[in-house]
Amino acid sequence: MKKRLLAMLMAGAMALSVTACGGNTSGETSDASGGEQAAEGSAKIGVSMPTQSLQRWNQDGTNMKEQLEAAGYTVDLQYAGDNDIPTQVSQIENMISSGCDVLVIAAIDGSALSEALKGAKDNDIPVISYDRLIMNSDAVSYYATFDNYKVGTMQGEYIRDALDLDNAAGPFNIELVTGAPDDNNVNFFFGGAMDVLQPYIDEGKLVVQSGQTEKAQCATANWSTEEAQKRFENIITSVGYGPNGVKLDAVLCSNDSTSYGVQNALLAAGYTADNMPVITGQDCDKPNVKNIIAGIQSMSIFKDTRDLADATVKMVDAIVKGTEPEINDTETYDNGTGIIPSYLCDPVFADKDNYKELLIDSGYYTEADLA
Ligand code: GAL
Repeated sequence: MKKRLLAMLMAGAMALSVTACGGNTSGETSDASGGEQAAEGSAKIGVSMPTQSLQRWNQDGTNMKEQLEAAGYTVDLQYAGDNDIPTQVSQIENMISSGCDVLVIAAIDGSALSEALKGAKDNDIPVISYDRLIMNSDAVSYYATFDNYKVGTMQGEYIRDALDLDNAAGPFNIELVTGAPDDNNVNFFFGGAMDVLQPYIDEGKLVVQSGQTEKAQCATANWSTEEAQKRFENIITSVGYGPNGVKLDAVLCSNDSTSYGVQNALLAAGYTADNMPVITGQDCDKPNVKNIIAGIQSMSIFKDTRDLADATVKMVDAIVKGTEPEINDTETYDNGTGIIPSYLCDPVFADKDNYKELLIDSGYYTEADLA
């Protein structure tokens, strides 16, 4: 799999036939380590991102590019329009044919890339699945992501604790909103949250008045804010939720873009910061953090995209140097062709009590970003 890169390493500067990759080509007198540096500097990394319409993917792309360039790589960063699968497929095919040495891919549809990635496999180009697992392709070498199951359980536990489900009499009304059905992460986000919440639903302490409890019923195509808002407007109308109607105690939302749609629907139905249900989210997108500060959203999972970029760049570096990347999970993520060795970053939750420390003091956002 790494034949091509190893060949580059061994041949040192002479192997720089991939001139399109740029980098340091003046290392003729360099020793073995100098040769290695030249090979690293010359390696070109293709980074394929799903969309620019969500803040998080813009940050992921920017962080990856900055960190890879700082490590001496040439970067071909592409966004697939607004979640356009054919665009992502052709961008990846281009990366392969233009001589990228490693591919880092955040898939739109985890199952739509098998054909395109055959080319990567044929050309011995290692593929790192980024954030979302690419399914049904044996071209995937590694997976770098956050602990997606933990994201889900943290959201469920936040609701459990906010409603004090173990002590309060209830019953409480809850509705469920998750993300794109073609995103493998949804199985972990929704599954993790439901592992916490389902027992309370079973005992009747939590009630889903809409009756929509199946993952497919709660899914939101492309994680779209508008889709989530539309579905939630229908739920509000059909159940009769409202500040003066049926009481809504909590909404599980798998991420911020869907959560924002739900909040729009609730605000339009007359809810205010004073009577909003408990609402979860994920990504700490700026509009959502502003709503956390305003008391409209309860929490968001903070996935520091700098950490994920950092872990991924280390993986790329290890692959290019012909060493073994650091892995901390070899059990969880089977993409249909077997377990993909993974590196899982740790998610944390942000709410109005800790967002300053997590998001501002860490330099992730400035005060002005959230004003
Ligand atoms: C998921 C990702 C989340 C969120 C969502 C919407 O795959 O893990 O952090 O961004 O996509 O793009």
